[in-house]
Amino acid sequence: MEKLSVYPKITTHVLQEMKLKGEKIAMLTAYDYTMAGLIDEAGIDVILVGDSASNVMAGHKTTLPITLNEMIYHASSVMRAVTRALVVVDLPFGTYQGDSLEALHSAIRIMKESGANAIKMEGGKEIVQSVKRILSAGIPVLGHLGLTPQSIHKFGTYVVRATEADEAKKLESDAKLLEEAGCFGVVLEKIPAALGAKVTHKLKIPTIGIGAGSGVDGQVLVLHDMLGLTQKFSPRFLRRYNNLSEEIKGSVQTYISDIKTLNFPNEREQY
Ligand code: KIV
Repeated sequence: MEKLSVYPKITTHVLQEMKLKGEKIAMLTAYDYTMAGLIDEAGIDVILVGDSASNVMAGHKTTLPITLNEMIYHASSVMRAVTRALVVVDLPFGTYQGDSLEALHSAIRIMKESGANAIKMEGGKEIVQSVKRILSAGIPVLGHLGLTPQSIHKFGTYVVRATEADEAKKLESDAKLLEEAGCFGVVLEKIPAALGAKVTHKLKIPTIGIGAGSGVDGQVLVLHDMLGLTQKFSPRFLRRYNNLSEEIKGSVQTYISDIKTLNFPNEREQY
């Protein structure tokens, strides 16, 4: 298996170096030991233990229900497998908004109990006090702007964000604010490509896009979506690299048929 990067261990400093060198950052989500081990071995730079676990692992409609304990469970499983990638964990909805001390306690629990390397938080100006407080405890923070799924009930829809000048301006100033606060990077979700490129050009820290075009410093996708494990979710930005849902169903159907037709186990598969 060919590895495409020379860095033996990814840190937030390596990501900064990659931006300076113009080397793109590859990021994927993972929520469990087996998948995290596979994508780490494949050479992924950053693993996000995203609160999208609420959707793809637990079957909720939104990311809102997942709890801090559940995120710590997923992050701990991932950490047992990973040796090279930087592991970032989402602070779940309701554990940081509005109270910077609670935000600090939530972030400390994730770092202490899972051993992860950094946390991610959604929002700009509204959460900057919490971001600063967490950073002051020595915990690296990745920002997240644009379509922020924890605010889906405020947005009302998952359409592209910041297409109007006002929202684009706020996103630009939020990105700068997060950089000044000390975030090591910012995720930009579902915004026009031109805005993604503009923000990336203005910031010294790396931007990681999901539906933010090619002018950003790196890309992130939800692992289950890009492997084709999920079928219904099909936004324009999603490239499917496999069709594992069909492969898994096919394997299971063959297994069932082998049992029913007395083809499994055979002579060599018993004691
Ligand atoms: O939770 C998640 O998977 C995310 C990515 C979509 C960026 O936040």
